[in-house]
Amino acid sequence: MKEIVFATNNAHKLREIREITGPEWRVLSLADIGCSEDIPETADTLQGNAALKACYIRDKYGYDCFADDTGLLVDALNGAPGVYSARYAGPGHDSEANMNLLLENLRGVADRKARFTTVICLATASGELFFEGTVEGEITTERSGESGFGYDPVFRPEGFDRTFAEMTDDEKNAISHRGRATRRLLDYLRGL
Ligand code: IMP
Repeated sequence: MKEIVFATNNAHKLREIREITGPEWRVLSLADIGCSEDIPETADTLQGNAALKACYIRDKYGYDCFADDTGLLVDALNGAPGVYSARYAGPGHDSEANMNLLLENLRGVADRKARFTTVICLATASGELFFEGTVEGEITTERSGESGFGYDPVFRPEGFDRTFAEMTDDEKNAISHRGRATRRLLDYLRGL
């Protein structure tokens, strides 16, 4: 089995990534390699933040590593919260507060089109590569569902009548931003 580090301590993301990568890969988290550091995400692009995390682990711990950064881009908010999605309602990374603020800012707004974009950076001794995945959809007017994490209860992907939080992990992974970006990463790794 091949081994790779995914630079996260987000249990939800780790579970999704392990389900997508399947038995072919042993995906180690930051905790698995003994890293409890809070790696700064100070860039102003998704690419920049993904690269900061992946390169930090490669350079300091010597592992081949990938990291993801995700943004929710809402048309009526000119692409906000975007790269600042985690801190939309403040520095606390509080998903409930983030969703409240988003619903508040879209109150009475008819155009609710939005998309999730994930950028993955793969950092190895050969350099850095980027893989991207996007899912189109819309922001609902209220929360629905208990699954998933982050903004999932208020995001309904295009062509579905349920939010991500009303889907099983398999359903979400099949169409999600992270699923798409991760399958592109896997295609690349298989071709090596
Ligand atoms: P980050 O990639 O961890 O910086 O995530 C940015 C923000 O988007 C955080 O508030 C996450 O909770 C949220 N987020 C990331 N991925 C997802 C997802 O798959 N569904 C819903 N929210 C997400």
